[in-house]
Amino acid sequence: MVLTQISEPVAAAAAPVARRALPTAGPLAGQVAIVTGSESGIGRETARALCAAGAAVVLNGRRADCLEATRRQLEAAGATVATSLADITDYAACEALVQTAIQVFGRLDILIANASISQRAYFLDMSPEVFKRVLDSNVYGAVFPLKAALPHLLKSQGSVTFISSISALNGMPSGSAYCAGKAALTNLAHTLRLELDGTGVHFGVVHIGFTENDDDKRVLDAAGQPVPIAYRKPRWQKTQAEVAAIILRHIRKRKQRTVISALGWLIAIVHGNFPRLGDWVVLTTMRRMRNFYE
Ligand SMILES: NC(=O)c1ccc[n+]([C@@H]2O[C@H](COP(=O)([O-])OP(=O)(O)OC[C@H]3O[C@@H](n4cnc5c(N)ncnc54)[C@H](OP(=O)(O)O)[C@@H]3O)[C@@H](O)[C@H]2O)c1
Repeated sequence: MVLTQISEPVAAAAAPVARRALPTAGPLAGQVAIVTGSESGIGRETARALCAAGAAVVLNGRRADCLEATRRQLEAAGATVATSLADITDYAACEALVQTAIQVFGRLDILIANASISQRAYFLDMSPEVFKRVLDSNVYGAVFPLKAALPHLLKSQGSVTFISSISALNGMPSGSAYCAGKAALTNLAHTLRLELDGTGVHFGVVHIGFTENDDDKRVLDAAGQPVPIAYRKPRWQKTQAEVAAIILRHIRKRKQRTVISALGWLIAIVHGNFPRLGDWVVLTTMRRMRNFYE
């Protein structure tokens, strides 16, 4: 796939689209956001929180029926949303996603790179193709929407948030490609902060911990088959609405890094300062709680 350098916003595609008025009330009134992977899960609840704060949101996903159901659900609650069915590992699709924001709402202020595929598979068992799918969704799935959106975000001095995981703070057995992809986003955000210093664009990363999941959430096993996510005790999990509220606060305060949950901070502190202790804990849980990872 050839990625062309874009210095100007991409020209509008064929059919004219009716311009929609932006909401006028709320702290984010007048602002337009794209949330990738917002047809379901945390992305959907983040879109809901953005709309409640007055933003207009472009919803995105790959399943037309699910995307449409989410659009209806949010519009019924008074939200201003548009949809873009797009695979965000395809650059041309990301250009179309960004064009939806520009054509329908006239501007772009906030990009949340949330879409991701996760895994339940040990590296030794994974086919290279499955590793690449997971890695691509987490790396190019953030890079391509950003590349397409950046000219508009420079104009609006907007905000970019990469949704990461607390597993990117260290690494997690059975999550090699996922952890590698999420960890790459931290360095990407840091580099862009340096390269684009003075432009007014915000680059942040949110490290999410255990969160409740939609019942139909699936991750990939070693052969690339969709399987349910590993069981987590409900009391360990934040609700999607709680996580969405934290993401919103992160954006409004233009924070560089947000780590969600006490466990997230524990991982950050232990692995940052006492890495051998951190590894001992993980290795012990691998022996005693193998189903935690599988
Ligand atoms: N839930 C947790 O406990 C947890 C913990 C740490 C971090 N996170 C992070 O939080 C974010 C949201 O997670 P979630 O739990 O809400 O997961 P989810 O329910 O699986 O939602 C992910 C969304 O991304 C979409 N997506 C995946 N690949 C895509 C692609 N190539 N193009 C367009 N859309 C794509 C999915 O759509 P399809 O149905 O089409 O695949 C889905 O709508 C992810 O970045 C995840 O890594 C979650």
